[in-house]
Amino acid sequence: MTIKTPLCDILGIKYPIISAAMGPFYTTKLAAAVVNAGGFGIISHTNLIGVDPVKSMEESIHYVMENCKGNFGVNIRVARMQIDAPALQELLVRLRKEDPEIRERLKMLVTSAGNPKPPAIFFKEKDPDLLVFHVTPTLYHAMKVDGLCDGIICTGYEGGGHQSYERVNTTVLVTEAVKHCKKPVVACGGFSDGRGIASALAMGAVGVQMGTRFIATKECEFHPDYKDFIVRSRDSDTMVCQGAFGPIRLLKNKYAEAHGEILTRDAKMAVESELDMEAINEDTKSYGLVYEGDIVNGPVLCGQSCGNIDDIPTVKEVIERMMKEAEAEIKKLSSYVG
Ligand SMILES: Cc1cc2nc3c(=O)[nH]c(=O)nc-3n(C[C@H](O)[C@H](O)[C@H](O)COP(=O)(O)O)c2cc1C
Repeated sequence: MTIKTPLCDILGIKYPIISAAMGPFYTTKLAAAVVNAGGFGIISHTNLIGVDPVKSMEESIHYVMENCKGNFGVNIRVARMQIDAPALQELLVRLRKEDPEIRERLKMLVTSAGNPKPPAIFFKEKDPDLLVFHVTPTLYHAMKVDGLCDGIICTGYEGGGHQSYERVNTTVLVTEAVKHCKKPVVACGGFSDGRGIASALAMGAVGVQMGTRFIATKECEFHPDYKDFIVRSRDSDTMVCQGAFGPIRLLKNKYAEAHGEILTRDAKMAVESELDMEAINEDTKSYGLVYEGDIVNGPVLCGQSCGNIDDIPTVKEVIERMMKEAEAEIKKLSSYVG
Protein backbone atom coordinates (compact mmCIF):
# COMPACT_ATOMS: atom_id res chain seq x y z
CA MET A 1 0.00 0.00 0.00
CA THR A 2 1.25 3.48 -0.80
CA ILE A 3 -0.41 6.78 -0.07
CA LYS A 4 -1.09 8.90 -3.14
CA THR A 5 -3.22 12.04 -2.89
CA PRO A 6 -4.39 14.61 -5.47
CA LEU A 7 -1.42 16.77 -4.42
CA CYS A 8 0.93 14.12 -5.85
CA ASP A 9 -0.74 14.52 -9.26
CA ILE A 10 -0.97 18.32 -9.08
CA LEU A 11 2.74 18.76 -8.28
CA GLY A 12 4.09 15.59 -9.95
CA ILE A 13 5.59 14.16 -6.76
CA LYS A 14 5.73 10.76 -5.02
CA TYR A 15 4.79 11.80 -1.45
CA PRO A 16 2.30 14.52 -0.36
CA ILE A 17 4.89 16.42 1.67
CA ILE A 18 6.09 19.98 1.04
CA SER A 19 9.07 21.57 2.81
CA ALA A 20 8.08 25.04 4.00
CA ALA A 21 9.62 28.33 2.99
CA MET A 22 11.89 29.57 5.79
CA GLY A 23 13.17 32.96 4.73
CA PRO A 24 15.10 35.06 5.33
CA PHE A 25 17.25 31.94 5.72
CA TYR A 26 18.28 29.65 2.86
CA THR A 27 16.42 26.39 2.23
CA THR A 28 18.04 25.70 -1.15
CA LYS A 29 19.99 22.55 -0.21
CA LEU A 30 17.04 21.42 1.89
CA ALA A 31 14.69 21.86 -1.09
CA ALA A 32 16.95 19.76 -3.33
CA ALA A 33 17.13 17.01 -0.67
CA VAL A 34 13.34 17.01 -0.26
CA VAL A 35 12.86 16.66 -4.02
CA ASN A 36 15.41 13.82 -4.15
CA ALA A 37 13.46 12.06 -1.38
CA GLY A 38 10.16 12.25 -3.30
CA GLY A 39 8.63 15.35 -1.69
CA PHE A 40 8.21 18.91 -2.95
CA GLY A 41 10.95 21.36 -1.93
CA ILE A 42 10.47 25.12 -1.62
CA ILE A 43 13.23 27.69 -2.13
CA SER A 44 12.90 30.54 0.38
CA HIS A 45 12.72 34.27 -0.18
CA THR A 46 16.09 35.21 1.35
CA ASN A 47 17.01 38.73 2.38
CA LEU A 48 19.72 38.48 5.00
CA ILE A 49 21.99 41.53 5.15
CA GLY A 50 24.25 41.72 2.10
CA VAL A 51 22.04 39.36 0.09
CA ASP A 52 20.45 40.52 -3.17
CA PRO A 53 17.13 38.60 -3.01
CA VAL A 54 16.70 38.44 -6.80
CA LYS A 55 20.25 37.24 -7.52
CA SER A 56 20.03 34.82 -4.62
CA MET A 57 16.72 33.39 -5.87
CA GLU A 58 18.13 32.92 -9.37
CA GLU A 59 21.20 31.12 -7.99
CA SER A 60 19.04 28.92 -5.78
CA ILE A 61 16.81 27.94 -8.70
CA HIS A 62 19.88 26.90 -10.72
CA TYR A 63 21.26 24.99 -7.71
CA VAL A 64 18.06 22.99 -7.30
CA MET A 65 17.82 22.37 -11.06
CA GLU A 66 21.34 20.92 -11.03
CA ASN A 67 21.13 18.93 -7.79
CA CYS A 68 17.88 17.01 -8.17
CA LYS A 69 15.62 15.72 -10.90
CA GLY A 70 12.07 16.41 -9.71
CA ASN A 71 9.72 19.35 -9.39
CA PHE A 72 10.05 22.18 -6.91
CA GLY A 73 8.66 25.59 -5.95
CA VAL A 74 9.61 28.99 -4.57
CA ASN A 75 8.16 31.35 -1.98
CA ILE A 76 7.66 35.08 -2.38
CA ARG A 77 6.44 37.05 0.63
CA VAL A 78 4.08 39.64 -0.78
CA ALA A 79 3.53 41.97 2.17
CA ARG A 80 3.29 45.68 1.27
CA MET A 81 6.69 46.35 2.88
CA GLN A 82 8.29 43.61 0.77
CA ILE A 83 9.64 45.89 -1.94
CA ASP A 84 11.58 43.12 -3.72
CA ALA A 85 8.46 40.98 -4.43
CA PRO A 86 7.66 42.46 -7.91
CA ALA A 87 11.25 41.88 -9.12
CA LEU A 88 11.11 38.27 -7.89
CA GLN A 89 7.85 37.74 -9.77
CA GLU A 90 9.45 39.11 -12.98
CA LEU A 91 12.43 36.77 -12.40
CA LEU A 92 10.18 33.69 -12.34
CA VAL A 93 8.44 34.72 -15.56
CA ARG A 94 11.78 35.34 -17.28
CA LEU A 95 13.43 32.09 -16.17
CA ARG A 96 10.39 30.00 -17.08
CA LYS A 97 10.22 31.67 -20.49
CA GLU A 98 13.95 31.28 -21.24
CA ASP A 99 14.42 27.67 -20.14
CA PRO A 100 11.90 24.91 -20.98
CA GLU A 101 13.33 22.64 -18.28
CA ILE A 102 12.78 25.30 -15.61
CA ARG A 103 9.29 25.80 -17.01
CA GLU A 104 8.65 22.07 -16.63
CA ARG A 105 10.07 21.67 -13.10
CA LEU A 106 9.53 25.00 -11.31
CA LYS A 107 5.89 24.11 -10.85
CA MET A 108 4.59 26.27 -8.03
CA LEU A 109 4.88 29.66 -6.40
CA VAL A 110 3.85 29.91 -2.75
CA THR A 111 2.81 33.46 -1.90
CA SER A 112 2.52 34.47 1.74
CA ALA A 113 2.39 37.27 4.30
CA GLY A 114 0.26 39.66 2.27
CA ASN A 115 -2.49 40.15 -0.26
CA PRO A 116 -2.58 37.27 -2.79
CA LYS A 117 -4.56 39.26 -5.37
CA PRO A 118 -1.81 41.31 -7.10
CA PRO A 119 0.52 38.29 -7.66
CA ALA A 120 -2.42 36.07 -8.70
CA ILE A 121 -3.48 38.63 -11.32
CA PHE A 122 0.14 39.15 -12.43
CA PHE A 123 0.69 35.42 -13.06
CA LYS A 124 -2.72 34.87 -14.71
CA GLU A 125 -1.63 37.44 -17.29
CA LYS A 126 2.08 36.69 -17.64
CA ASP A 127 2.48 32.98 -16.87
CA PRO A 128 -0.86 31.23 -16.30
CA ASP A 129 0.71 27.75 -16.20
CA LEU A 130 2.60 28.44 -12.97
CA LEU A 131 0.58 27.10 -10.04
CA VAL A 132 0.07 29.65 -7.26
CA PHE A 133 -0.77 28.50 -3.72
CA HIS A 134 -1.28 31.09 -0.98
CA VAL A 135 -0.67 30.69 2.76
CA THR A 136 -3.66 31.59 4.97
CA PRO A 137 -4.12 31.70 8.76
CA THR A 138 -7.96 31.89 9.01
CA LEU A 139 -11.04 30.63 7.18
CA TYR A 140 -11.85 34.23 6.15
CA HIS A 141 -8.51 34.46 4.29
CA ALA A 142 -8.83 30.91 2.90
CA MET A 143 -12.22 31.74 1.35
CA LYS A 144 -10.77 34.85 -0.30
CA VAL A 145 -7.86 32.83 -1.72
CA ASP A 146 -10.25 30.12 -3.00
CA GLY A 147 -11.35 32.25 -5.95
CA LEU A 148 -7.87 33.55 -6.79
CA CYS A 149 -5.25 30.82 -6.45
CA ASP A 150 -4.78 27.16 -7.39
CA GLY A 151 -4.49 25.93 -3.81
CA ILE A 152 -4.56 26.99 -0.19
CA ILE A 153 -1.92 26.32 2.45
CA CYS A 154 -3.72 26.56 5.79
CA THR A 155 -1.22 27.34 8.50
CA GLY A 156 -2.21 27.17 12.15
CA TYR A 157 -0.97 28.97 15.24
CA GLU A 158 1.23 26.10 16.47
CA GLY A 159 3.59 26.57 13.51
CA GLY A 160 7.00 28.21 13.50
CA GLY A 161 7.67 31.77 12.39
CA HIS A 162 5.14 34.51 11.65
CA GLN A 163 1.61 34.00 12.89
CA SER A 164 -1.63 35.92 12.59
CA TYR A 165 -3.27 37.96 15.34
CA GLU A 166 -6.30 35.63 15.13
CA ARG A 167 -4.50 32.61 16.66
CA VAL A 168 -6.49 29.82 14.93
CA ASN A 169 -5.03 26.33 15.36
CA THR A 170 -4.34 23.94 12.49
CA THR A 171 -7.02 21.37 13.36
CA VAL A 172 -9.76 24.01 13.38
CA LEU A 173 -8.50 25.84 10.31
CA VAL A 174 -7.99 22.83 8.04
CA THR A 175 -11.32 21.28 9.00
CA GLU A 176 -13.29 24.41 8.14
CA ALA A 177 -11.25 25.31 5.02
CA VAL A 178 -11.86 21.85 3.56
CA LYS A 179 -15.58 22.27 4.26
CA HIS A 180 -15.95 25.74 2.73
CA CYS A 181 -13.33 25.94 -0.05
CA LYS A 182 -13.18 24.24 -3.45
CA LYS A 183 -9.43 24.41 -4.03
CA PRO A 184 -7.05 21.78 -2.60
CA VAL A 185 -6.02 22.46 0.99
CA VAL A 186 -2.52 21.71 2.32
CA ALA A 187 -2.29 21.43 6.11
CA CYS A 188 0.57 23.29 7.78
CA GLY A 189 1.71 24.03 11.33
CA GLY A 190 2.56 21.41 13.94
CA PHE A 191 3.28 18.35 11.75
CA SER A 192 6.30 16.22 12.48
CA ASP A 193 5.40 12.53 12.07
CA GLY A 194 3.30 9.99 10.17
CA ARG A 195 0.33 10.16 12.53
CA GLY A 196 0.24 13.88 11.79
CA ILE A 197 0.05 13.24 8.05
CA ALA A 198 -2.67 10.62 8.55
CA SER A 199 -4.68 13.11 10.63
CA ALA A 200 -4.25 15.88 8.05
CA LEU A 201 -5.54 13.58 5.31
CA ALA A 202 -8.44 12.52 7.58
CA MET A 203 -9.32 16.22 7.98
CA GLY A 204 -9.55 16.44 4.20
CA ALA A 205 -6.18 18.00 3.36
CA VAL A 206 -4.32 16.76 0.27
CA GLY A 207 -0.94 16.88 2.00
CA VAL A 208 1.17 18.59 4.63
CA GLN A 209 3.76 21.33 4.63
CA MET A 210 6.44 21.29 7.37
CA GLY A 211 9.11 23.74 8.47
CA THR A 212 10.41 22.89 11.95
CA ARG A 213 10.72 19.12 11.28
CA PHE A 214 12.86 19.79 8.20
CA ILE A 215 15.21 22.21 10.00
CA ALA A 216 16.39 19.29 12.16
CA THR A 217 17.76 17.29 9.23
CA LYS A 218 21.32 16.67 8.05
CA GLU A 219 20.88 18.48 4.72
CA CYS A 220 19.20 21.65 6.01
CA GLU A 221 21.68 24.52 5.77
CA PHE A 222 20.73 26.02 9.18
CA HIS A 223 23.46 26.19 11.84
CA PRO A 224 24.02 22.93 13.83
CA ASP A 225 23.27 24.80 17.09
CA TYR A 226 19.84 25.82 15.72
CA LYS A 227 19.09 22.16 14.98
CA ASP A 228 20.29 21.02 18.42
CA PHE A 229 18.16 23.72 20.08
CA ILE A 230 15.07 22.26 18.38
CA VAL A 231 15.93 18.70 19.39
CA ARG A 232 16.34 19.57 23.08
CA SER A 233 13.19 21.77 23.26
CA ARG A 234 9.78 20.73 24.54
CA ASP A 235 6.34 21.69 23.24
CA SER A 236 6.12 24.47 25.83
CA ASP A 237 9.49 26.00 24.95
CA THR A 238 8.23 28.38 22.24
CA MET A 239 6.50 31.73 22.70
CA VAL A 240 4.80 34.15 20.34
CA CYS A 241 6.47 37.56 20.40
CA GLN A 242 5.92 40.86 18.67
CA GLY A 243 8.09 40.80 15.53
CA ALA A 244 8.55 43.73 13.15
CA PHE A 245 5.96 42.20 10.78
CA GLY A 246 3.54 40.98 13.46
CA PRO A 247 3.40 38.03 15.88
CA ILE A 248 6.16 35.49 15.48
CA ARG A 249 6.66 32.08 17.17
CA LEU A 250 10.20 31.69 18.54
CA LEU A 251 12.07 29.37 20.86
CA LYS A 252 12.45 31.00 24.28
CA ASN A 253 15.87 32.64 24.64
CA LYS A 254 17.28 36.03 25.63
CA TYR A 255 15.95 37.64 22.43
CA ALA A 256 12.42 36.22 22.80
CA GLU A 257 12.19 37.18 26.48
CA ALA A 258 13.28 40.74 25.58
CA HIS A 259 10.64 41.04 22.86
CA GLY A 260 7.88 39.81 25.15
CA GLU A 261 4.50 38.29 24.44
CA ILE A 262 2.56 39.64 21.45
CA LEU A 263 0.75 42.92 21.59
CA THR A 264 -2.80 43.16 20.34
CA ARG A 265 -3.32 44.41 16.78
CA ASP A 266 -4.61 47.77 18.12
CA ALA A 267 -1.59 48.30 20.33
CA LYS A 268 0.66 47.40 17.42
CA MET A 269 -1.05 49.95 15.13
CA ALA A 270 -0.41 52.66 17.71
CA VAL A 271 3.36 52.12 17.65
CA GLU A 272 3.75 51.71 13.89
CA SER A 273 5.72 53.79 11.32
CA GLU A 274 9.19 55.09 12.22
CA LEU A 275 9.54 52.85 15.22
CA ASP A 276 8.80 49.93 12.94
CA MET A 277 11.64 50.79 10.58
CA GLU A 278 14.00 50.59 13.53
CA ALA A 279 12.50 47.27 14.51
CA ILE A 280 12.85 45.97 10.94
CA ASN A 281 16.52 46.98 10.76
CA GLU A 282 17.19 45.42 14.14
CA ASP A 283 15.35 42.25 13.08
CA THR A 284 17.30 41.96 9.84
CA LYS A 285 20.59 42.11 11.76
CA SER A 286 19.49 39.60 14.37
CA TYR A 287 18.37 37.08 11.73
CA GLY A 288 21.93 37.15 10.42
CA LEU A 289 23.23 36.41 13.93
CA VAL A 290 21.00 33.35 14.25
CA TYR A 291 21.98 32.06 10.82
CA GLU A 292 25.61 32.26 11.95
CA GLY A 293 24.75 30.21 15.06
CA ASP A 294 23.97 32.76 17.81
CA ILE A 295 20.87 31.08 19.21
CA VAL A 296 20.82 33.31 22.33
CA ASN A 297 20.65 36.88 21.01
CA GLY A 298 18.53 36.44 17.89
CA PRO A 299 15.08 35.12 16.89
CA VAL A 300 15.07 31.31 16.65
CA LEU A 301 11.90 30.71 14.64
CA CYS A 302 10.39 27.37 15.59
CA GLY A 303 7.00 25.65 15.90
CA GLN A 304 5.54 23.78 18.87
CA SER A 305 6.28 20.52 17.04
CA CYS A 306 9.85 20.81 18.44
CA GLY A 307 8.44 18.80 21.37
CA ASN A 308 8.05 15.80 19.07
CA ILE A 309 11.42 16.14 17.32
CA ASP A 310 14.31 14.30 18.93
CA ASP A 311 16.79 13.52 16.19
CA ILE A 312 18.60 14.97 13.17
CA PRO A 313 18.24 12.34 10.45
CA THR A 314 18.55 12.76 6.67
CA VAL A 315 15.59 14.23 4.79
CA LYS A 316 15.06 10.83 3.12
CA GLU A 317 14.85 9.15 6.53
CA VAL A 318 12.32 11.73 7.76
CA ILE A 319 10.09 11.39 4.71
CA GLU A 320 10.22 7.59 4.45
CA ARG A 321 9.66 7.12 8.19
CA MET A 322 6.69 9.49 8.11
CA MET A 323 5.09 7.83 5.10
CA LYS A 324 5.53 4.36 6.64
CA GLU A 325 3.97 5.55 9.90
CA ALA A 326 1.11 7.26 8.06
CA GLU A 327 0.36 4.10 6.09
CA ALA A 328 0.34 1.97 9.26
CA GLU A 329 -1.89 4.51 10.98
CA ILE A 330 -4.38 4.64 8.10
CA LYS A 331 -4.50 0.80 7.98
CA LYS A 332 -5.15 0.75 11.72
CA LEU A 333 -7.91 3.34 11.38
CA SER A 334 -9.61 1.42 8.60
CA SER A 335 -9.65 -1.67 10.84
CA TYR A 336 -11.88 0.36 13.21
CA VAL A 337 -14.60 0.48 10.53
CA GLY A 338 -17.31 -2.19 10.21
C1 LIG B 1 12.78 29.55 10.44
C2 LIG B 1 11.45 29.80 9.80
C3 LIG B 1 11.34 30.78 8.81
C4 LIG B 1 10.12 30.99 8.16
N1 LIG B 1 10.05 31.90 7.11
C5 LIG B 1 8.94 31.93 6.31
C6 LIG B 1 8.93 32.68 5.09
O1 LIG B 1 9.90 33.32 4.70
N2 LIG B 1 7.79 32.64 4.34
C7 LIG B 1 6.69 31.93 4.73
O2 LIG B 1 5.70 31.90 4.01
N3 LIG B 1 6.68 31.23 5.88
C8 LIG B 1 7.79 31.19 6.66
N4 LIG B 1 7.80 30.41 7.80
C9 LIG B 1 6.63 29.59 8.12
C10 LIG B 1 6.77 28.22 7.45
O3 LIG B 1 6.70 28.38 6.05
C11 LIG B 1 5.68 27.24 7.89
O4 LIG B 1 4.42 27.83 7.72
C12 LIG B 1 5.84 26.78 9.33
O5 LIG B 1 7.18 26.43 9.60
C13 LIG B 1 4.94 25.58 9.56
O6 LIG B 1 4.93 25.16 10.88
P1 LIG B 1 5.91 24.02 11.46
O7 LIG B 1 7.18 24.77 11.71
O8 LIG B 1 5.22 23.58 12.67
O9 LIG B 1 6.07 22.95 10.43
C14 LIG B 1 8.98 30.23 8.51
C15 LIG B 1 9.10 29.28 9.55
C16 LIG B 1 10.31 29.05 10.18
C17 LIG B 1 10.39 28.01 11.25
